[in-house]
Amino acid sequence: MRALAPIVVALLAAACHRAPPSDGLREWSADDHDRGPDDQRAAQQGPKGDAGGPAVIIEATWRTQCAACHGAIGKGDGPQGPMFKAPDLTREEFQSSVKDAEIAAVITNGKGRMPKFDLPEPVVAGLVARIRASRGR
Ligand code: HEC
Repeated sequence: MRALAPIVVALLAAACHRAPPSDGLREWSADDHDRGPDDQRAAQQGPKGDAGGPAVIIEATWRTQCAACHGAIGKGDGPQGPMFKAPDLTREEFQSSVKDAEIAAVITNGKGRMPKFDLPEPVVAGLVARIRASRGR
């Protein structure tokens, strides 16, 4: 799904760039970054590590690409979860049975009714970290 790349880039652009102040009244300040419920939620839920790239991108990717089946946290309770029989990724037995590389491979290659996703490597790594962070939740 190469077509996803522009979407991710667009999200990145939307998250990081704001229109320059046209009237010169006010410059962007670091405080602005904390505005908005989405940013705050991403900060709370997203993986903190640097390995996965910007948390807001990971969070946006999860919500747009994964949550329909796997749900907001990963319990498999998204709107399409039952139809696809999406597994609960937070379960201890699942978490302890797979290596990070195996999770990344499923995202990249797909598995059964799980579609494959052509995402940049840092985004895949960030999704793996997000799934790990949901362990036992
Ligand atoms: C269309 C529904 C659907 C979407 C969208 C989806 N998944 Fe899945 N996912 C599944 C199903 C169904 C399985 C079970 C596959 C199987 O075991 O046959 C699965 C399994 C998984 C697994 C467990 C693999 C394993 O080792 O057993 C992971 C991890 C996963 N998905 C991550 C993701 C991520 C990350 C995304 C978003 C990039 C995503 N999924 C999007 C349906 C989906």
